Amino acid sequence: METVVSGIRSTGNLHLGNYYGAIQNFIKMQHEYNCYFFIADLHSLTTHPTPGDLHGNVKQVLVEYLAAGIDPEQATIYIQSDVPEVAELYLYLNMNAYLGELERATSFKDKVRANPDNVNAGLLTYPVLMAADIIIHKATKVPVGKDQEQHLEMARTFGNRFNRLYNTEYFPEPYAFNYSSQLVKIPGLDGKGKMGKSEGEANAVYLSDSPETIRKKVLKAVTDAGPTVENQQKPQEIQNLFDLMKVVSTADTYEYFDGLYNKMQIRYGDFKKQLAEDMIIATAPIRDKINDIANDEAYLRQVARYGAAKARESASRTIKEVREIIGFRNF
Ligand code: TRP
Repeated sequence: METVVSGIRSTGNLHLGNYYGAIQNFIKMQHEYNCYFFIADLHSLTTHPTPGDLHGNVKQVLVEYLAAGIDPEQATIYIQSDVPEVAELYLYLNMNAYLGELERATSFKDKVRANPDNVNAGLLTYPVLMAADIIIHKATKVPVGKDQEQHLEMARTFGNRFNRLYNTEYFPEPYAFNYSSQLVKIPGLDGKGKMGKSEGEANAVYLSDSPETIRKKVLKAVTDAGPTVENQQKPQEIQNLFDLMKVVSTADTYEYFDGLYNKMQIRYGDFKKQLAEDMIIATAPIRDKINDIANDEAYLRQVARYGAAKARESASRTIKEVREIIGFRNF
């Protein structure tokens, strides 16, 4: 069975884009592959969170992933810092990662531009740590978005370089993976591009948002003055809302409003009300579970310990073999 690894940075709440774009894939994959889903708290250290924030963010992601349906019995869910073998492999891989290629990484250049006062070595070697995350389990499939393609290419480079240096075929090559036919586009509410938290609070609907908050956000979504001819093409802001409706509402509801639009009889107020109510229904099971799971410290502890044990089993096997390959010998 092929191995899947994906890391989730512990930065803030999950929104509908994360859920329909990524988590639903994870949920499907957990039944078909040997999956490791981890919370990348070591990566989050590049921005120096306070101890309280660090723990709170990790907990939030753990709770929301469990609430969304990632099953700790099916997939291995763990917290990166619970597996020190990852940090050890990162050290070894760093010996074969070159300054020039690290400086050329798009994500590094973006971060330098955004935060010129915090260009630390951890930021520079972020792709090396990510490579360690993946190849420590010898994963071949990595479900990530387009923005991570370059990091995956670097992971292949670092693994291959290790193989070449020690004349072995130890690490397999990891590739980005998606159930491509099912790529769903989840637009935001601002009438522009995709849903995301960097576009502002009001643009994204979070899994933990209350029904009242969802209603408010959806009713404020950008619309136009309405269709002026029958069957006209929808402008982007309207198409976005229809795209969201396609995901959260029934086919009947979608066709009903699509028909009204085409006949120029749509009332955006009603349309948005329906969209908000269907979003509330679609997210209700997750929202209810978020609260229950967040309050169940014993369950969270159990999940984290169980996941760490399973992840360390795989990671320590790799590290033992890597040490042998490198030439560390016991006296
Ligand atoms: N860099 C990824 C992101 O920003 C997070 C990540 C860290 C990751 N390690 C990983 C993703 C390993 C996949 C596999 O989203």
